[in-house]
Amino acid sequence: MCGIVGYVGQKQALEIVVAGLRRLEYRGYDSAGVAVVSGEELVVRKKAGKLVNLETLLGSDPMPDSTTGIGHTRWATHGGPTDSNAHPHVSEDGTVAVIHNGIIENFAELRAELNAAGVSLSSETDTEVVAHLLALELPAADRDLPEAMRRVCRRLEGAFTLVALDREQPDLVVGARRNSPLVVGVGQGENFLASDVAAFVDHTREALELGQDQVVILTPTSVTVTDFDGEPAAVRPFTVDWDASAAEKGGFDLFMLKEIAEQPRAVADSLRGRITRDSRIQLDETNLDEAALRAITKVVVIACGTAAHAGMVAKYAIEHWTRVPVEVELASEFRYRDPIVGPDSLVIAISQSGETMDTLMALRYAKAQGAHTLAICNTVGSTIPRESDGVLYTYAGPEIAVASTKAFLTQIIAAYLVGLYLAQVRGTMFEDEIRGVLAELDDMPSKVDLVLDTTEPVRALARELAGATSVLFLGRHVGFPVALEGALKLKELAYMHAEGFPAGELKHGPIALIEEGVPVIVIVPSPRGRAVLHDKIVSNIQEVRARGALVVAIAEEGDESITPYAEHIIRIPAVPTLMQPLVATVPLQAFACEMATAKGHDVDQPRNLAKSVTVE
Ligand code: G6P
Repeated sequence: MCGIVGYVGQKQALEIVVAGLRRLEYRGYDSAGVAVVSGEELVVRKKAGKLVNLETLLGSDPMPDSTTGIGHTRWATHGGPTDSNAHPHVSEDGTVAVIHNGIIENFAELRAELNAAGVSLSSETDTEVVAHLLALELPAADRDLPEAMRRVCRRLEGAFTLVALDREQPDLVVGARRNSPLVVGVGQGENFLASDVAAFVDHTREALELGQDQVVILTPTSVTVTDFDGEPAAVRPFTVDWDASAAEKGGFDLFMLKEIAEQPRAVADSLRGRITRDSRIQLDETNLDEAALRAITKVVVIACGTAAHAGMVAKYAIEHWTRVPVEVELASEFRYRDPIVGPDSLVIAISQSGETMDTLMALRYAKAQGAHTLAICNTVGSTIPRESDGVLYTYAGPEIAVASTKAFLTQIIAAYLVGLYLAQVRGTMFEDEIRGVLAELDDMPSKVDLVLDTTEPVRALARELAGATSVLFLGRHVGFPVALEGALKLKELAYMHAEGFPAGELKHGPIALIEEGVPVIVIVPSPRGRAVLHDKIVSNIQEVRARGALVVAIAEEGDESITPYAEHIIRIPAVPTLMQPLVATVPLQAFACEMATAKGHDVDQPRNLAKSVTVE
């Protein structure tokens, strides 16, 4: 949700900033802009539409050489995606340029104040007020952009990352953050600011995590951080543990295809180091206190979108293994329903980005109620893990495609590890039972690999069904969240009506949607293990089939019982029930990706969406 880059150093700022924006375009892509300070000039270029439009503009209307610059890629909140609403915004006197991610909630009041003072605003954004306020705080003599930024931030309400340049103070970039992401990249004779390390990982892997309500001042050779009152503030250095190639397409046409293909490695990496030789789970990094874990009476998972589906899958496993009740709540709803959480609750916030505002707000609410909080997160240095009591990182590597794939599988792995750890600490499973599940988990990278080797029939089917107006997904038990995830992928990417249902619920209403030829994709549970699930779903298949549905079964190798009832069967390896989501989701990802491609949609950057949603 808006990508921000800032650079100050010895090199051409524009090149570095535009390359950084390319890496951050997943965050928002409805307009983009850059500003540089060159000699006595502050020069801005901005354009509605994807970054390529800005690049075309820069080709026809080049910018002067400069070693100080900022850039922005936008996901519109206040004001439509037009050239004038694109960032950077510049003060009336043309001295200050600012870019912003977030929402300034008191902007109407500030706008009125500026109007009353005779300042005329040229956009509909909340951001523009900051450019004018900064200029008003900068007297002609004795200009001090950091101090102006601190003063302005003290007046702002809401969530914001701000980065500003002053024409009169070249070699200086000033940033600020509250409830919105911003990381510092520390180089040699150059420094960087960005919403995400991906923007600067080509240049440095040394980074600083900023805290809340901090202002950061960059020159080519220094990084200074204060709070909004100017007091020195603590920051946490960290080293990015992946390199620039991880944020490239690596020979694939789409980031999504690359990320689907990376899933076996991502799953293996997320398991690594967390299981001892004698098959005990060690999650030291999570700071989970064993006595506290023994005392909890419930687990509450808060998350959004795909991450919430991972939480729903985990609920089945954690309850089964620990006998502790697990609630899964969409983070955007959580704090508004007066939820029952307290010191006896373990609240798990699942978030790929670690910045989703709905999840962050739910987490803060849970903390305020005294709950123990744990983040499952893929982004080191992000806000949700920093504000949680502990964190279990997923090692999916950077996920750039807007539709989440590898993060989902690794979130399930991480949540399963938490469940098994709880079982270990609370003694609800025997050691050999835990060892058995760990062996199953250990098998998953190779099983996912097998699925990847056989996705061509799924892709062919997606092309065949690209003309459908609606696709329904059915599942039972852990297959139900998989059905939801399959439908979400199709909505996100193919822009079509798609819904996931618990198969048993169908007859209570949704079955009325079935008409001749409607594709119904059914996640068929293994006939082994919980056989009753399998038998029930076979009945459900017959119900929709009898009403004209075109049935596509996702079924394990060797399960011939559904052959008479399904027009198409997509085979997945035979795995235990609780492991099935890790293999059954993969064909659904490939299906949505291929269908969107067949329809000519932009798979990596679907319309209206953003990967990291930093507004409520
Ligand atoms: C957005 C993305 C989804 C993602 C959700 C949660 O809506 O488009 O793909 O699942 O946010 O994101 P998080 O970073 O918190 O996992």
